[in-house]
Amino acid sequence: MSTETELSPVEFTVPVVSADPADAFDQRQFRNALGTFVTGVTVVTTCDGAGGTHGVTANSFSSVSLDPPLVLWSQALTSRSYPAFRDSDRFVINILADDQIAISNHFAKSREDKFSGIEYRPGLGGAPVLSGVAAHFECAKVASFPGGDHVVYVGRVERMGHSNRRALAFGSGRYVATYAHDLGPVALNLGTSTPSELEAVRLVTAALPALAEKLGGHTLCLAVWGNHGPTAIHWEPSSNPVSDQLRVGLVMSITRSATGRAFAAFLPDEQTRVFVSEDLRLSRRADQDEAAHRLDFERDVEEARTRGYARVIGVEPSPLHQVAVNAFSVPIFDARGNMLMALSLTSQANRLGTDWDGPVPQALAEAAWQLSARIQAQ
Ligand SMILES: Cc1cc2nc3c(=O)[nH]c(=O)nc-3n(C[C@H](O)[C@H](O)[C@H](O)COP(=O)(O)O)c2cc1C
Repeated sequence: MSTETELSPVEFTVPVVSADPADAFDQRQFRNALGTFVTGVTVVTTCDGAGGTHGVTANSFSSVSLDPPLVLWSQALTSRSYPAFRDSDRFVINILADDQIAISNHFAKSREDKFSGIEYRPGLGGAPVLSGVAAHFECAKVASFPGGDHVVYVGRVERMGHSNRRALAFGSGRYVATYAHDLGPVALNLGTSTPSELEAVRLVTAALPALAEKLGGHTLCLAVWGNHGPTAIHWEPSSNPVSDQLRVGLVMSITRSATGRAFAAFLPDEQTRVFVSEDLRLSRRADQDEAAHRLDFERDVEEARTRGYARVIGVEPSPLHQVAVNAFSVPIFDARGNMLMALSLTSQANRLGTDWDGPVPQALAEAAWQLSARIQAQ
C-alpha cells in the first residue's frame, strides 16, 4: 500500500522574465552554471515488487525538513529505472564516500543488473544500503512532484546510518575532494608541488577515513619531506587522540619519531644526513656516548629497511603528547621508487602492541603498499 501523496501534474507556465535576446541562455550554459553549485554524490536505490534492485547516481539530493525528517531528490523521466522508482514506496539515499568514484560512475550508466559485484545489504523494504558510504537514509516515499523533465521525490527518513568517512563531492562536471577550509590549501601546498604528487596526496588522504575505521581508534598521520624535515600534512581524527596539539605543518624528529625514521630509512642518505646529525646532537643525553647514540639510531633505521617500515616504541611523554606512545610508519613510493609520503600510526603505549608483525602494523603496511601500487598505476 502506497503512503505517497499523489499530486496532480502542475501546468508549467514559464513567465517571460526578459525579452532581451542578450539575456537568452541555452541548455548547455544553464547546465554549466548549475554545475558551479558543488554537491555531494549519492546513489539512490530501490527494490521493485518482483524483488529487483535498482540504483542511480544522483546529486539532486537535498535535505528538506528536520521535523518531520524529510529529504528529496529528482529523477529524469528518461531514466531507465524511472518506472521502478515511480512505482516503489521506498528508496534509500546512499551518500558516497571520497573513495567511491568508481561506484558513482558505475551507477551513472544504464545497465541491466547494476548490483552484481557491488557490496550492499538490503535495507527497509529490500532497498540496497551500499557498503562503505559516508551516510545513508532509508526513506518512505511521501510525495512525488512533477518537475519539468524530472520528477521530484520527497521521502520521510525512517532509518539512517552515519560513518566518519569523508563525502565525495561534485562540481563543474568533476569529482572534487573536500577538505576543511582552514586545512585544505595548507595540506596541498606543503612539501609537494607537481600535479602527480598532489594527486597522490589526494588519493592517500581520501583513503584514510576508511583505514582509520578499520584499524580502530589510533591516530593516523600523513607526512611529506619538507624543508625542515618530516612534516605533517594531514591528521586523521581519532576517538583516542594521543594529543590535542597535532597540527598540520608539525615538523617531527627524524631520529625519534617513526615518521622521521621512515624518511631516514627510505629517502636518499644525502637528503637526510644533515637533519639526522643535528637531531642526534640535540637528542643525546650528556652521559651518552656520541658514537653509540648514532649506532643505536643506525640499527633502528637498518631494521626499518629490512622490514619495509619504521617503528618507535615507548616514546616517553613529552610536551607534544602527554602519554607514552608507540608508533609505526610506512613509506609510500611513486612509480620511480621515490618516497613520496610516510603513513604513520601512533597510539598510547598500552593500546598498541610493539610487535613488528602485530595485526595493526601489518594492516597499516598492507594499506600503504596498496596505496603505493595505486599511485604507481596512475
Ligand atoms: C554526479 C552525477 C549526478 C547525477 N545526478 C542525477 C540526478 O540527480 N538525477 C538523475 O535522474 N540523474 C542523475 N545523474 C545521471 C544518472 O546517474 C544516469 O542517467 C543513470 O544512467 C541513470 O540510471 P538508469 O538509467 O539505470 O536509471 C547523475 C549522474 C552523475 C555522474
